[in-house]
Amino acid sequence: MTPALGTRFLPITPVASAGAHTRASRDPMTCLLRCGSACDHPEPNRSEHAHVQDEIAKVVGRRGVLRSALLGGTVLAAGGALAGEAAAAPARAQSRDLTRSWFRPVRPNKRHAVVTATGFTSSVVVRWGDKVVAGAPTFDAYRQTVEAAKTQFGYNCDYVGLVPLAGRTDEALLVVNHEYTNENLMFPTGVYTADEVKRLAMYNHGMSVVRVRQGRTPGSWKQVKVLSRCPENRRLHLDTRFRLTGPAVGDPRLRTKADPRGTTVRGTLNNCAGGMTPWGTVLSGEENFNQYFDAGAGVPAEYAAEYARYGITGAGKGWGTVEPRFDLSQEPHEPHRFGWIVEVDPSNASSVPRKHTMLGRFKHEGANIIIAKNGRAVAYMGDDERGDYLYKFVSREKMDPSGTRAARRHNLGLLTAGTLYVARLSGDGSADGQHDGTGRWIPLCDENTSYVPGMSVADVLLFTRLAADKVGPTKMDRPEDVEPNPVNKKIYAALTNNSNRGTEAMPVDEANPLATSMVRSALGEPLTAASGNRNGYVLELTEDGDRHTGRAFSWDLMLVCGDPAAAETWFGGFDKSKVSPISCPDNLSFDSRGNLWISTDGNVLGSNDGIFRVPTSGPERGRVVQFLTVPAGAEACGPLVTDGDRSLFFAVQHPGEITGATFEEQASTWPHTDDFPRPSVCVAYRDR
Ligand code: FEO
Ligand code: CA
Ligand code: CA
Repeated sequence: MTPALGTRFLPITPVASAGAHTRASRDPMTCLLRCGSACDHPEPNRSEHAHVQDEIAKVVGRRGVLRSALLGGTVLAAGGALAGEAAAAPARAQSRDLTRSWFRPVRPNKRHAVVTATGFTSSVVVRWGDKVVAGAPTFDAYRQTVEAAKTQFGYNCDYVGLVPLAGRTDEALLVVNHEYTNENLMFPTGVYTADEVKRLAMYNHGMSVVRVRQGRTPGSWKQVKVLSRCPENRRLHLDTRFRLTGPAVGDPRLRTKADPRGTTVRGTLNNCAGGMTPWGTVLSGEENFNQYFDAGAGVPAEYAAEYARYGITGAGKGWGTVEPRFDLSQEPHEPHRFGWIVEVDPSNASSVPRKHTMLGRFKHEGANIIIAKNGRAVAYMGDDERGDYLYKFVSREKMDPSGTRAARRHNLGLLTAGTLYVARLSGDGSADGQHDGTGRWIPLCDENTSYVPGMSVADVLLFTRLAADKVGPTKMDRPEDVEPNPVNKKIYAALTNNSNRGTEAMPVDEANPLATSMVRSALGEPLTAASGNRNGYVLELTEDGDRHTGRAFSWDLMLVCGDPAAAETWFGGFDKSKVSPISCPDNLSFDSRGNLWISTDGNVLGSNDGIFRVPTSGPERGRVVQFLTVPAGAEACGPLVTDGDRSLFFAVQHPGEITGATFEEQASTWPHTDDFPRPSVCVAYRDR
């Protein structure tokens, strides 16, 4: 149903009705546009087996940067001694300190607003279409152009990082991913041709770097609008040049007509979550990259197994008609150039961002780094697909924390050589009242040697899923953010959900224990049983001896999410009568006391998604408290507690994305500045 050039464009992409689409927890429109309705397809794993901000400031601080604005300095100085302290101390009820401030939990709701806990408020920092780069035009939904999109804030903000700015305590660089587009909501009917819509959608993907400054109210932030004094501001988009690094560079399977040496990629796609490195850069995960490639004249048979394992079916978005590299029959290698971890240096707008082959290729949710006791950088990563795996990478070289120019150059190379591992988890039986056990990190390859029989180093890195299948890792329930807690040094993984868990193809195990779970069809409706794991888990992983470079660990499910009235739920042992219901954990973050902050994606308890605080140790461990909800249709992304624990940055992704909504008949106009919704990054802080 592609209209000819110049004819009226029909923006309504056919989607399954809400009733027909029963297995996914998100709105069907979100499922289709974001991940190609991955849950409607068999999971592609058919194998047979079972605060870095303190580190950044230390490094940048030695380069002459004032650090106080971005840190909870005193708490960090006290380190682990405070790790056991509980959040929510009533004596500090009016504190701006998000680590300790008491607040009444926000109740589940379906409002078209961001609802924060009483005493707090939130404001929009930057919206879709806002000017990012000097010279950008004012956004006009009816006069969108590719050239404008390359200078304006992209669509569907996801990851949010905040990197200190040299010489300033009151300003910083906000780094944001733009994961995907919703053409139904973005483009008025009849204004753009089908090909124009494709091009506009392409260039609304990518990343943004935006200078922000503190507002008058402590904890508040706003965009610096005088763009001539924002030299770091940047839009990374589909024309931005990325350099490939690591052992797979130049592999014949990375070569294309435009890049005959296999060293340079144009653009980044479906950037989901991410993380800040202790050396001041930002990592971003290329997630559902598989959905952008069309069959064209036919899907080449040469890579049938590899395409299948990554869900590359040729049912793309039609981009191949306007850019031939997205036509598999013309460029069979182009998909191999996506699915990587991207590293961006936000402090230098002319720096060439990189895609690190050493960290493997899969549906990267993100990557988060901790510096091990022996100085090596360890990146924890999830492959967000039902039945896929947890990974970690250990750098060959040690981080140089000295802050010199030479140290910076050295640290920028840390992710190019080292060892890539995948996780196998074993349970000790759930009769002990806990879902817990031990595990091993299984090496896949280092920069010189493959540990997977029959596969070269380049094979392992290009087709990491296939390599991992051969060594028997544990199939997990959609691993999303995997994040080290800077206070207690444990690793936390969001396992969002898996409606297929408990089927013959994917039996339960102790780390993925639920074959049924309780959901609500709407707020106020009774809990009913649904097959599989619908509400997700938060896994806590403890490296033996806190050796992050080691191979042995123990683990437990700290949270079995859901409504606390459901028997299967578990909140770290905390009293279930005192916690908020929580469903579908997705992005994770820690404040300076080591409390976990969780954003959710796809609530199946009838409420809007939201953000929650959970202490990870002490008597309040497991006390899940809802801090805010995002507007109807949206998911909450990228929580980041910063600015001395006074500010919570978060992204409101896809507000109003509800099946049937169109540009003319929107389901939401949030943030209510126009007659259509605008995905936006916000900040929450105390206002009274
Ligand atoms: Fe883009 Fe896995 O969420
Ligand atoms: Ca157990
Ligand atoms: Ca996510």
